[in-house]
Amino acid sequence: MYRFLMRMKCPEGGFRMHEEGETDIRGSYCAMAVASMLHMLTDELMEGLPDYIRRCQTWEGGLAGEAGLEAHGGYSYCGLAALCIIGKADALDLFAFLRWAAHKQMSHEGGFQGRANKLVDSCYAFWMGGIFPLLHEAFRQSGQDVALPLSHSWFAPSPLQTYVFLACQTQSGGLRDKPGKSADFYHSCYALSGVSVSQHGVDGSLSVVGAASNLLERTDLYYNVLVEKAERKCAYFAGLPPLEVDGRVVGGGEGVGAAEGRRHLLEELNLPSYQ
Ligand code: FPP
Ligand code: ZN
Repeated sequence: MYRFLMRMKCPEGGFRMHEEGETDIRGSYCAMAVASMLHMLTDELMEGLPDYIRRCQTWEGGLAGEAGLEAHGGYSYCGLAALCIIGKADALDLFAFLRWAAHKQMSHEGGFQGRANKLVDSCYAFWMGGIFPLLHEAFRQSGQDVALPLSHSWFAPSPLQTYVFLACQTQSGGLRDKPGKSADFYHSCYALSGVSVSQHGVDGSLSVVGAASNLLERTDLYYNVLVEKAERKCAYFAGLPPLEVDGRVVGGGEGVGAAEGRRHLLEELNLPSYQ
């Protein structure tokens, strides 16, 4: 895995999506998330990445897939999460990012659009919804004097859940992008992931639309897996010797931003840590 990630690394700091594939900001997120989850994040993997992602921030404030293109929710999550994992979100103008993101929840439908003048789509419940708690933690880790909201993250959780539950669930059970489309695994996954983000406030408070049984478990915003699973892997990797590749000790570990974000969250929720 480490050899593969290093082979995908580009001189400009980003990562290709696959052998001979395109380089865009999705590759950066996938590489940082995988390396961090496997505790094999090293300086050589991170080299040049903050500058590469900074160049994708557009005049609107969000991130484009590549420098010079249009700000988009999917790519914005990828770039921000990649930087948050490695604790380098301050490479971006976080205030411009927040201003852009706060305008992406549509007042009529309640869901998010992914870019200006486009339609609401349930998968942005996660790609856009996940941006707010990431920004919240990035501001906190930066130590900047920002008045952070306590129980919410700059978007309205109830209209978002209402859009997903009422407009996106199909008669056959799965979730769709929007009425008129059919359900698929991708939208089922990310609509539900976004619902979870919107239900769990940064301070541990809950916001659930409809029956209490609609409450989903809290996910780790960096990896989109249950917090408990993100935490439990630490116990596994702590028991392994430093990573050796081709006779060279490369060491590595989890991203410092992701580890600190989870530590703070568990402390805030008064939950035990495996570390
Ligand atoms: C535009 O589609 C959307 C894209 C070109 C890709 C968006 C990127 C993601 C969802 C992130 C994927 C993340 C990983 C980790 C692989 P569109 O024009 O159909 O949609 P739009 O009208 O909503 O912009
Ligand atoms: Zn979608």
